[in-house]
Amino acid sequence: LYIVHIAAEMAPVAKVGGLGDVVTGLGKTLQKKGHLVEIILPKYDCMQYDGIYDLRALDVTVESYFDGKLFQNKIWVGTVEGLPVYFIEPHHPNKFFWRGQYYGEHDDFKRFSFFSRAALEFLLQAGKKPDIIHCHDWQTAFVAPLYWDLYAPKGLNSARICFTCHNFEYQGTASASELASCGLDAQELNRPDRMQDNTAHDSVNPVKGAIVFSNIVTTVSPTYAQEVRTAEGGKGLHSTLNSHSRKFMGILNGIDTDAWNPATDNFLKVQYSANDMQGKAENKAATRRNLGLSSADDQRPLVGCITRLVPQKGVHLIKHAIYRTLEMGGQFVLLGSSPVLHIQREFEGIANQFQNHEHIRLILKYDESLSHAIYAASDMFIIPSIFEPCGLTQMIAMRYGSVPIARKTGGLNDSVFDVNEETIPNQIRNGFTFTTPDEQGINGALERAFNFYKNNKESWKQLVQKNMNIDFSWDSSASRYEELYAKSISRARAQAS
Ligand code: ADP
Ligand code: GLC
Repeated sequence: LYIVHIAAEMAPVAKVGGLGDVVTGLGKTLQKKGHLVEIILPKYDCMQYDGIYDLRALDVTVESYFDGKLFQNKIWVGTVEGLPVYFIEPHHPNKFFWRGQYYGEHDDFKRFSFFSRAALEFLLQAGKKPDIIHCHDWQTAFVAPLYWDLYAPKGLNSARICFTCHNFEYQGTASASELASCGLDAQELNRPDRMQDNTAHDSVNPVKGAIVFSNIVTTVSPTYAQEVRTAEGGKGLHSTLNSHSRKFMGILNGIDTDAWNPATDNFLKVQYSANDMQGKAENKAATRRNLGLSSADDQRPLVGCITRLVPQKGVHLIKHAIYRTLEMGGQFVLLGSSPVLHIQREFEGIANQFQNHEHIRLILKYDESLSHAIYAASDMFIIPSIFEPCGLTQMIAMRYGSVPIARKTGGLNDSVFDVNEETIPNQIRNGFTFTTPDEQGINGALERAFNFYKNNKESWKQLVQKNMNIDFSWDSSASRYEELYAKSISRARAQAS
């Protein structure tokens, strides 16, 4: 098949969180399975350009409509992780992707509705005929209504549209009048069965639009797919998902096992594998040294946490875990940053408090290389999320021999299984879980993990080695996408004939 992903992120060149990992990991695996996969991204000024190979501008520019006028887009092509990527650079006076950051601008709705339309315009003008256009999250959700309203009639009519929602918290809702900028008919679409927001009726909701207008709708784990179909979990979209339930399902993400492989990871001081664990101890020692933590007791468990610091991730529980770890005789390393100013400030306060502490370190920035070092150095890894569509850090942690301590929600519930959970086969039990999102909940799991670590050294080692061998690759999940794509295409063919 010819599959085009239109997205706002792609690891490692334009990554904010897991979305970037997924676009690359799924794309690479589909390519390996023999499909032609291309990615379309905005050309951000803040991208990591050294991860893009053979970047060059195409000779032709693409003209796209916005706010009643036509704008030129320069199209760049390059290779990222072996995947062909087209970067769209709009020549618009508002310099949409020249802002020094990916998201969080006052005009994100305009920036990404512009991009969605320009991406389709590029496919049309370049004469490309994908079988599948796969868009992700609200930033590229506009692709679905734009495709059926404007591009299928113009001749880009070979494609089926797949939309993956990675997080229903972010829906991109805006005043209905904003929709006209990208050429969509605001009046037609601002209806309860189309894009009208289910609570704010003068607003349109891009994610709702993509649910209504896509052929395939997925989210990133089976448990989260169930949660979002309830009033508590659906962030206002449960009724829409329930009316479109036949095309909606949850597929658990994988991780890119080439990028996340302790046996070949160049970010690590020493590479290691499940059969050769000495390297893990060396990484622990090196990271403790680099971060200025005490190395006096190499048996002291190191607890890691790598996350965006947003309420979804259970920031109050992360804070609590720092103090509790210290009380229990462990060390704690947090690598995280927050787009929410008061959370960032609060953690800066804690970081200062522990500035020279021998057992606690908080590093409040985005740092790819340090993230690898922490996965490798840590013995345990906490993910106390309030909700978690999938979560990748628990899988990466396990691959690096760090045992997850996670709240049972969303994708964590589909990938972390408590060592004491007797209803689950022993061979798939891999971590420590808790249910109630409060201090008592996380205390229980942390204490059980510490006791296990201290009192059952041999069993802990076996657990770590077993976890490192779990198959978290994209292989089986990418096959699920393949099946969905193929079914949708054959359904379309059957309808056409
Ligand atoms: P989300 O997408 O909700 O942030 P995921 O668990 O799906 O959560 O993915 C998070 C990804 O971002 C992981 O690859 C993780 O290692 C990475 N990450 C998060 N925070 C940082 C940080 N401060 N520095 C480096 N990598 C980070
Ligand atoms: C979102 C979710 C996270 C998921 C990631 C990739 O950012 O918060 O749970 O793993 O997308 O799908």
